[in-house]
This record gives sequence, C-alpha cells and structure tokens, in this order.
Amino acid sequence: MSATPQAAASPKKITPLTFREKKIAGQPISVLTAYDLATALAVDQAGLDAVLVGDSLGMVVLGYETTLPVTMEEMLHHCRAVARGSRRALRIGDMPFLSYQVSVEEAVRNAGRFLQEGGMEAVKLEGGRERLTAIAAIVGAGIPVMGHLGLTPQSVHQLGGFRAQAKTADSARRLMEDARALQDAGCFSIVLESVPARLAEFVSRRLAIPTIGIGAGAGCDGQVLVTHDLLGLFERFTPRFIKRYASLYAEMVKAFEAYRADVEEHAFPSAEHSLDLPDEEWQAFVEALEDEGPSQGG
Ligand code: KIV
Repeated sequence: MSATPQAAASPKKITPLTFREKKIAGQPISVLTAYDLATALAVDQAGLDAVLVGDSLGMVVLGYETTLPVTMEEMLHHCRAVARGSRRALRIGDMPFLSYQVSVEEAVRNAGRFLQEGGMEAVKLEGGRERLTAIAAIVGAGIPVMGHLGLTPQSVHQLGGFRAQAKTADSARRLMEDARALQDAGCFSIVLESVPARLAEFVSRRLAIPTIGIGAGAGCDGQVLVTHDLLGLFERFTPRFIKRYASLYAEMVKAFEAYRADVEEHAFPSAEHSLDLPDEEWQAFVEALEDEGPSQGG
C-alpha cells in the first residue's frame, strides 16, 4: 500500500486567511468535494486548496434523489473519514438541511460539531439574507463560515428544481445584495452556484472575500466541483457546467467484469496471489492428521 500524503505544491497549511491572500494575489482557489479517506489523500497530494465534505454526499454516495434527507450524523461520519486523510487542504463541512435553519442556537451547536466531532476547520451553509443571524452567531463562536448563493440545492422544491438562478435583473440584484450581506456577516468566502458568468464576475470584483464558482463561469476567484462528477463516477444527473476529467464508472465496470471472468475461469487467484505453507509444516500437518487415524467425515 502506498504512501504518505504529500502536497504536490506548497506544503503550507491552507486556512481561510490563505483564501483572502490568494484573492488579493489574483491566484485562483481550487476546491473539490470528498467523502472518504482515499479522496481526501488524493486531494491533498494533488495540492488543492480546500476539501469540501458536501451534502452532495446524499446524492452521489448515499443514493438519495436530493440532498434533503442528509443528516448531521451522516455528514459527521464522512467528515471524520476525510479528516483522517487531509492535512494541508482547508477542511470544510457542509451543514445539512435543518441543521441551521431551525434556531440560531442549533445552528451554532451543529456548526461546532463539525469542528469538534468531524475534524473540520470551517462550515458551509446555504442562503442569503435569511441566514445572517445564524452566520454571525457561528462566526462569533470562532467558526469560519463559507456562504452559498444561487442554486441552493436544499431549497430545490422552492426553486422548482435544480435550475440556474439570478437570470433576471431583479434576482441578480438580490444576489448581489445577499453576497454583500454574507460578507458583512463574516463569511470568509461564498460559493456561487449556477448563476450567469457575467453576474458572478461582477459580484466577485465587488467583494473583498473570494467567490468559489460552480457553474458560474471563469470570473470567480476559485472553482469547486463535485469529485464524483469530475471523475465520471456519478452518471445519473450531469449538469452542463461539469467538466469530466475521467470516466471512472466505466473503468470500474470494466474492472469488475474482468474480475468476474477471472473468478469464473479459475484464473484468479493464481499462485502469485496465494499463500504457501512451507513443505516441512505441510508434512507435519499431514502426519499429525494420520496419527489421529481416519476421520469421521472422510
Ligand atoms: O454539496 C456540495 O457538494 C456543494 C458543492 C456543489 C458546492 O455544495
């Protein structure tokens, strides 16, 4: 089994401050989701800036139709797996539906659980002006918060589906106001999902905190993708803005078929995949059995 996790780029630990420094320096911020140890190690080794344990977990790993059924316990379970492999990237845990909407107290308590029990270093939550009190309280507890505007999947029913947002002058203005309000409430960055590229660029230029885009064009300060989409592991639903860098689902099926054929043809395991017992041990084993006389079962 290989390897110590190693960052390809700078080994410097990424923090929310690094996000701000990168924006000022005009250096793009790279973020991917992860839900398990292997992905967390690979994200670190590839030198990405942040790993998001997204509630997309519910759709791409747990098989739910939406992110709504995802619970705190499910999120924390996967956060812990990611935290065991991630060292350099900033670790961000996504607060699931109803973990921050019911009351400010619950929002702070649940955000704290991501750090205390999940090994995360920051949390993300969805929504604009309606979330300001919760965000300010979480930030006040010393927990960095990433906002999320535009297509907010936890509001899928209110939005009428997974559809692009801020496509009218009015909704674009609301998004701009929300982004400013999230910044003022203390968010260290904001995800902009499925919004027109020119609006995302406009918002990004006017904020001091970095924007992280997904389906929001090249004018954001950074980008995030769901790792299963990028790897071609989740084929049920592929938005147009996804860029696929591999086809691992097809590779996985190919590997599984080859394994099945090997098993059926007795080609696996071969001698190289089998353990041997030294001759003298085998001899002693056989002799001991013979000494015991004929067995009942033959
Ligand atoms: O849950 C998630 O993976 C996300 C990203 C798409 C930003 O929220």
